[in-house]
Amino acid sequence: MSAVTKRSLAPSAEEQLQKRADAIRLQVTQGISKPFKKVIDVSSGDIHSTGMKPITFVRQVLAGCLCPDLLDSDTLPHDSQLRARKLLEHCDGGSVGAYAESSGMAYVKSTVAKFISARDGGLSSNPAHIFIASGSLRAITVVLKLLDQGEGAHRTGVMIPLPFPYTLPRVLERVGSVPLPYSLTEEAGWRIEKKELHRAIQASKGHCWPRAIYISNPGNPTGHVQSRESIQEVIEFAAQNNLFLLVDEVNQDTVFGMGSEFVSYKKVLAEMGPPYSHTVQLASVHSLSNGILGECGLRAGYIELVNVDEHVMLFAETLLCGDISTPITGQIALDVMADPPRPGDPSYCLYRQEVESRRNTLRRNMHRSAEFFNSLPGFHCPPVQSGVFIYPHLTLLPTALTHAQGLGVEAGLWYCERLLEEEGVCVGVNECMGKAVTQSCPPGSNWHLRMCVLMPPDALKEVLCRLQAFHCRFLKGF
Ligand SMILES: Cc1ncc(COP(=O)(O)O)c(C=O)c1O
Repeated sequence: MSAVTKRSLAPSAEEQLQKRADAIRLQVTQGISKPFKKVIDVSSGDIHSTGMKPITFVRQVLAGCLCPDLLDSDTLPHDSQLRARKLLEHCDGGSVGAYAESSGMAYVKSTVAKFISARDGGLSSNPAHIFIASGSLRAITVVLKLLDQGEGAHRTGVMIPLPFPYTLPRVLERVGSVPLPYSLTEEAGWRIEKKELHRAIQASKGHCWPRAIYISNPGNPTGHVQSRESIQEVIEFAAQNNLFLLVDEVNQDTVFGMGSEFVSYKKVLAEMGPPYSHTVQLASVHSLSNGILGECGLRAGYIELVNVDEHVMLFAETLLCGDISTPITGQIALDVMADPPRPGDPSYCLYRQEVESRRNTLRRNMHRSAEFFNSLPGFHCPPVQSGVFIYPHLTLLPTALTHAQGLGVEAGLWYCERLLEEEGVCVGVNECMGKAVTQSCPPGSNWHLRMCVLMPPDALKEVLCRLQAFHCRFLKGF
């Protein structure tokens, strides 16, 4: 068994919490008495699991594709029928039950290319450079595999942000790349500092060969949005150090901060002109899961490769062949995400209303949650600009630290385990590292909780009530 496989077997703190949440959920269904009626898992961005309703047009098109008889009835609006017919024309045998091309249906790739081009102010996007995968994590894995090479000090190193999206270390571990963390500056709105990038790459000397930098923009779980200038700095840094830019842009349509705007790395790269625009290699990923549709279970995402050699693209295709093909249902929903109803279409008003209502819920919930955490002793929550996560900073008192030490567990994890056991709320947790740790607090006392806030307002109320009850008890005890 390889070292990588052995390491993969050890569950992380997050995974332990998840397992425990699953076990408690099962106990609840078996009628075992708990202080709560159900477990609420807000640790991931799975918004449908906490009660958000699907966007109607997506499901209508899917319904038409899955059940073509509906296309000859009045059950579905005309535009959803037309879309379903069009998509079925591009499925072998006119059926979603057939296999599709390994790197994605050509028709859907061309829809995605048009979406990217419109998003980036008319910049061209080539469907041949777009690859559809069963989720953006799979797309990221494919890119990391393309970059993976060498042994020992020549092993591929990938620069990753601290804090990172919680799924990322597992992906790197599976591929076998070495993570090279660079800290984001919390007190400056999670800014990426040039000095810190240089420090991180210097620190890799002798351990691995840095070949890529992973960027999450808009940031997961931090909710920051990079400015154009900040993106330029990162591109310059990547060029100087011959790094492949792997940009996770899955939160691009959930930017709500005042004055914040999503600008894609591809657009900034093109605007920087030569030599950057022709040399810096870039992969940008987007997903059905994290966008405003939040259709995690349908499994589809895409990568667009820029400035990547045609031969390397062939390898990407080969790696995706291992999946046979991304589920067609996911690709259909991706087509709708990239080309939603337009003004004048029969479904436009409802679509617009549902998306706007979702955005308003997100904005309001974020505001309400930030106020809530800022009112709890020990918590501090800076403004969030994007995404579905709130990421409050929790400072634990020395008495709590001593108690956790006595139990042999990390204090933040212990806090979250108790929250889960006593109130049935599962949140994500990270220890603060780097500059976020103030000199005056002992190690182990600074944590961040990660909580998805995009859910119906009543569900959020329930989560916050449980959190408050728990936190008050916890403070009394410690
Ligand atoms: C960093 C990151 N990117 C993207 C995603 C979405 O993944 P997928 O598209 O595979 O559902 C996640 C979900 O956890 C994530 O953590």
